[in-house]
Amino acid sequence: MYRRSVLLAKKAGFDGIELSCSGHANKRTDAYGGSVDNRCRFILELVDKVSKDFGGPEFIGVKICPTDTLNDSMVTFDEMQETYTYLIKALVDRKVGFITICRRGADIGIETELSSSRPEGFLLPPGYDPVLDFGGLIKFPGSTTVLMVNQDYGIEKANQLVKEGKIDLLQIGRPFIYNPDLVTRIRKGVPFAKNDRGGSVYYGPYRTPDKNYNDWPSATA
Ligand SMILES: Cc1cc2nc3c(=O)[nH]c(=O)nc-3n(C[C@H](O)[C@H](O)[C@H](O)COP(=O)(O)O)c2cc1C
Repeated sequence: MYRRSVLLAKKAGFDGIELSCSGHANKRTDAYGGSVDNRCRFILELVDKVSKDFGGPEFIGVKICPTDTLNDSMVTFDEMQETYTYLIKALVDRKVGFITICRRGADIGIETELSSSRPEGFLLPPGYDPVLDFGGLIKFPGSTTVLMVNQDYGIEKANQLVKEGKIDLLQIGRPFIYNPDLVTRIRKGVPFAKNDRGGSVYYGPYRTPDKNYNDWPSATA
């Protein structure tokens, strides 16, 4: 399934592909479950296969979300650090083009008050930021892997991190929905609007397709 999609993407002229390795979990008792290397096996085998299909690892990106809470994917802090240290090192060794670290579940940033909190046993150290924790495994002299980040960033923070050499690229998701003029706002230095409709407004479904997707006001002409 993955390889077919990758081959179709290549045929369609894509520059590369991103494997979304976040927000999903299942219980495995075979060679793909249990130990850290077993749990990382699927992603790494997949990266190896699609790298060949696309023409090289430099065309492959991998999105990870170490602190995720979705779909039973939440793990303890110690397990998270051990697993993602292993996985990131293995991906950088393979020279993938980029790794996206998504901070979902870390409860920091511009939408913090809208995030869900983590239960006892799965708490993170106060202010914990997986990008700052793992970024150095990706961005170091000689590394060929680019660090892209997302989840809860404003422009000022992202610019500061780029200037400090801590990240290479930023993705923006939800603010694009509640700022229909987001690009103009960035260009003109107009602050992002605040989402005042609650943390789950983005995912619908609602009675009309536009509700909470296409009905936010613009601040710029
Ligand atoms: C409408 C919508 C659907 C999304 N669907 C998924 C998804 O299926 N899986 C996933 O891992 N992330 C999903 N995301 C999260 C984004 O991929 C991205 O990680 C996040 O929106 C970036 O952070 P930001 O919204 O704070 O800028 C979705 C985001 C939005 C706004």
